[in-house]
Order: sequence, then C-alpha cells, then structure tokens
Amino acid sequence: MTTKDYDRWLDEVLQGTGRRVLDAGCGRGELAAELTRRGHAVTAIDVSEAAVAAARASGVPARLADLADYYDDEPFDAVVMSLSLHHMHPLGTVLGRASELLGEGGVLVLDEFAWDWADAAAAAWFYDAASLLAAGGLADFPREAGRDPAERWREAHEDHATGAAMLAAVAERFEVRDVRREPYLSRYISGKLTNGSTELVNELWRIERERIASGALPPTGLRLTAVRL
Ligand SMILES: C[S@@+](CC[C@H](N)C(=O)[O-])C[C@H]1O[C@@H](n2cnc3c(N)ncnc32)[C@H](O)[C@@H]1O
Repeated sequence: MTTKDYDRWLDEVLQGTGRRVLDAGCGRGELAAELTRRGHAVTAIDVSEAAVAAARASGVPARLADLADYYDDEPFDAVVMSLSLHHMHPLGTVLGRASELLGEGGVLVLDEFAWDWADAAAAAWFYDAASLLAAGGLADFPREAGRDPAERWREAHEDHATGAAMLAAVAERFEVRDVRREPYLSRYISGKLTNGSTELVNELWRIERERIASGALPPTGLRLTAVRL
C-alpha cells in the first residue's frame, strides 16, 4: 500500500518514468508492481523463496537472488530498498554491490525503519496500540502483559541494523543527497492488521503524525536518497 505522500516522494526521487530500477529485497512485490505501473522497468530480487513465490503469484516476475552477489548485464538508474537493508549484513557488502549495480548518476533509494530512533514512549505507543487492536480482533499480534515495552522493543529489534549504522554505511559509499525522518510505527502496525481497514490505517497515521508534531513521539522512519560516488 502506498500513501499520496509516499507516491510523491517516489516520483520525485525516481525523476519521471522509464527508469531501470532494481528492487532489492522486494518481499511480496507490492512496490515493484507499483513502480511497474508507473512505467519503470523493474527487476525485483529477494533472497527468500517464499517471498519470491508470493511476488510471482501476484504477477511480479521476481528473481531469487541475494543482493550481496547479484550481478546484471546493464547498469540500473536506481536501486530501491524498502525495509530490506536493515535485514542485510554486512551492510558494507550489500551497499558496495548496490553501488556497483548503479550506472553514472544512479540513485540509491532507501525507505527504512530505524529501530534505534524509538524511545520508551514510542515503544509503549506501539505495543499499546497493537495490543488494543489485537484484543479487538483487528490485528494479529501477541499481547505480552507485564513486559516492559522498551525492553521488549530492544529484544525484538536488536539483531536489525540501526538507523545510525545504515546512515554511516551509506555515507561511506555514496554521496547522500537527502535524509528524511518520517512516521513509521503506524505502518508497522498496519502490517499486522487482519481486516485492512483504510479508516483504521489512516487514523493510526493521523495519531502518529500529530504525536510526532507535538514532540510526544520521535519519528522512526528513514527515507534517504544518495548517488554513487
Ligand atoms: C521486511 S521485508 C520487506 C519487503 C518489501 N520490500 C516491503 O517493503 O514490504 C525484507 C525483505 O528483504 C529480503 N532480504 C533480506 N536480505 C536480503 C538480501 N541479502 N538480498 C535480497 N533480499 C534480501 C527478505 O527476504 C525480505 O523479503
């Protein structure tokens, strides 16, 4: 699912249509399908057989491949990584490969989640909202009474790359053009919803945006564009 704001950002960073785009870590292929609809020539890869099968089942001709050793005959105009880089390691190896896959002026586009940007308030907001939705039968999410939210958050995410590590690894291999901090927790929870209600998703976004604007919550989403050195 994409939002208007997300669509605008993608159009801005991909600059027009007809771009040769690599979606690295495509998952079920939603983004690859959307970029194809917008006229880009998309190659979608994922290291998971289940993800590739799901993407193919939805009409995206995804390939089973690891970004760390993926090669292509022609350079890409853009390498897009949506919520995949924080699962990859070592960061330097995959980002080095992403850089080599890009042509002159090629752009790296990261749409990421920086778990280390969440504070105790963010962890509590996330688990409280998800637990309430689960209690109402609207989300598939384990409720864990009595757990400290900040500790639970850390345990759940500490094996993922941090925002700080991703930013540093990108800056070593690319010229960073733009970094934005965005809402993310509502998107995270939306992925757990069992009924996919647009109203519920929009309401989560509204609340998170307003709490970020008032300073009650930190942004935990990271959007970055960078060009190869
Ligand atoms: C959280 S999912 C994100 C999927 C999709 N891009 C999205 O935004 O919904 C992360 C995906 O990255 C894939 N992945 C992790 N490491 C990878 C690697 N080294 N090369 C290619 N894909 C990888 C995983 O298999 C998984 O499908």
